[in-house]
Amino acid sequence: MDEKEEVYTADDRLIVALDVDSFDKMKELVDELGDLVSYYKVGMELYYSAGSETIHYLKEHGKKVFLDLKLHDIPNTVGHSVASVTRLGVNLITVHAGGGRAMMQAAARYAKITADELGVGWQEVGGHLPIQDHVLELAQLAKDSGVDGVVASPREASSIRKMAGNDFLIVTPGIRPSFAQTDDQKRIATPSEAFKDGSSMLVIGRPITQAIDPCAAARLILKEIKENA
Ligand code: C5P
Repeated sequence: MDEKEEVYTADDRLIVALDVDSFDKMKELVDELGDLVSYYKVGMELYYSAGSETIHYLKEHGKKVFLDLKLHDIPNTVGHSVASVTRLGVNLITVHAGGGRAMMQAAARYAKITADELGVGWQEVGGHLPIQDHVLELAQLAKDSGVDGVVASPREASSIRKMAGNDFLIVTPGIRPSFAQTDDQKRIATPSEAFKDGSSMLVIGRPITQAIDPCAAARLILKEIKENA
């Protein structure tokens, strides 16, 4: 393989967010991106419209799946829900850190007995502390509860990395390559900045999915990942 091809090979550190509302729109994007993308995020919009068919399609095509439903309920319900989606072959699932320690522990326990590999994360919930302290407090709680990592803004990645060490996943949305517009994201970073600050994986939606040429956008991002991560 020559150097040029290698730069554009799919990379699990790039997770493309499939924020569309139908199976057909998802299929169109996934088929167009083809071998360039190996990891997809299915969020509430797509899962609530098209359900587990989306997961089956992605798994049949050899993709990894991050199911971002931000589960938040009593520990027993969250634990069994995590087991259900793990059986579908989902690789990462988010639970809401606001659900507390017992809920996150149940999620981690059911994930671990249902699958070999699972990361569970959280989303910031707001609170009495300045955002940086609050995020760190929740990340610490998530780590203590036995989940594999967190979803966090690139702005908090470096302090979480310092607190949690290298063996903890930090998945960062809010990524805007220099060629892309900001959209509604407020706390953004480029792919290289995010990795420099300690991110493990990037979630990127509109800069790829709304691009005039999604494959060209994905190639530019893959190149930046390989050169800077
Ligand atoms: O299109 P864009 O790149 O902004 O998409 C970012 C994705 O990451 C969306 O699917 C969004 O739901 C998700 N996300 C986020 N911020 C969080 C948690 C998840 O943007 N705090």
